[in-house]
Amino acid sequence: MPAIFPRWINSVPIALALGFPAFVATVIGSVWYWASPKFTDAGYQPEQPVPFSHRLHAGEMGLDCRYCHNTVDRAAVAAIPPTKTCMNCHTLVKPDSEKLAPVRESAQTGESIKWSRVHMLPDYAYFDHGPHVAAGVGCNECHGRIDQMDVVEQKKPLSMHWCLECHRDFEPRLRPLDQVTNLGWSGHYDPRSDPNRERPVDELKPPLHCSGCHR
Ligand code: HEC
Ligand code: HEC
Ligand code: HEC
Ligand code: HEC
Ligand code: HEC
Repeated sequence: MPAIFPRWINSVPIALALGFPAFVATVIGSVWYWASPKFTDAGYQPEQPVPFSHRLHAGEMGLDCRYCHNTVDRAAVAAIPPTKTCMNCHTLVKPDSEKLAPVRESAQTGESIKWSRVHMLPDYAYFDHGPHVAAGVGCNECHGRIDQMDVVEQKKPLSMHWCLECHRDFEPRLRPLDQVTNLGWSGHYDPRSDPNRERPVDELKPPLHCSGCHR
């Protein structure tokens, strides 16, 4: 009796089983990518009340990011430094500078400087700096070369697609833990043979499921 279906049909269920998840991922991926209304906010650069320059303080002077953003490796939010941190230096450095007048005023009145927010996710998306920094993701992966900016600008889209792109393939984007705030670092790094990692790479589990980021 002649076969009703050609032979290759037999391999279809296997092809489906293997190919289908990838197919679904691709479809969902492209829908996310293109349907995301704010697929890019990159370029956002609000004006600040004081002309504070990261290029000068973090770049040329080489202050570590954590000198000012001192909660970034243990808390969700990277604290913006209080005026006191600025006055550690500016009681002596340029004490008469016009540009620093709002800083001195803030120190006198105790009222914080009203810095404009640059990076901001919508409320329904959850983000925590702590695990990213602890895993060895450099600040520049998400913020660009802040140490070369006179005025901070959002360089990355911070869209869902963008988050997931790294979560799906994060290993090549890790660096040694002591290089996280060294934004110019570029070197070969094999996280699997690094004895100084807090947690082995296999234990890192960036979420891909919805409730990982929408809690
Ligand atoms: C001397 C203190 C100081 C140092 C050092 C410093 N920052 Fe900042 N940073 C600030 C202040 C003040 C602001 C708020 C004003 C602004 O946006 O420029 C800020 C803002 C930012 C923002 C934008 C925050 C937002 O509203 O979205 C990012 C991102 C940032 N810093 C990253 C870094 C990184 C990365 C480093 C290290 C390379 C660093 N900072 C070093 C003081 C500092
Ligand atoms: C570790 C010391 C240090 C800290 C902390 C520091 N600065 Fe500075 N800042 C300097 C130095 C040094 C200069 C360059 C002075 C010069 O040009 O001679 C400078 C320059 C400036 C200038 C330019 C002043 C001018 O007249 O050209 C501004 C504005 C400024 N800083 C703001 C801040 C703010 C805001 C903070 C806190 C978030 C801060 N700085 C924290 C050391 C510091
Ligand atoms: C994996 C991506 C990622 C990395 C790595 C990262 N950031 Fe952020 N950062 C963000 C996102 C996303 C926001 C906006 C958070 C929000 O709106 O809830 C943000 C916001 C900030 C802010 C504003 C205050 C806040 O927490 O909302 C500062 C300051 C900051 N980052 C500094 C840093 C510094 C310094 C480093 C390196 C030590 C760093 N970031 C590493 C993604 C990242
Ligand atoms: C450059 C790589 C990279 C980018 C970009 C990135 N992540 Fe992650 N993320 C990681 C890694 C690596 C981990 C694993 C940390 C662990 O398991 O300890 C992680 C873990 C997480 C976790 C689980 C840990 C926790 O905080 O509960 C959440 C949630 C998360 N990321 C949210 C986000 C969001 C939201 C964005 C985009 C705004 C983002 N991530 C962008 C690399 C990245
Ligand atoms: C790695 C973190 C992460 C995961 C996992 C994630 N999301 Fe999101 N999602 C985000 C972020 C960040 C935004 C905000 C994007 C923006 O502001 O452009 C967002 C936005 C959204 C939005 C608003 C529309 C849009 O595209 O901006 C919807 C709807 C959404 N997510 C649904 C989902 C669903 C459904 C899943 C699971 C299949 C999921 N998300 C998994 C991070 C994530």
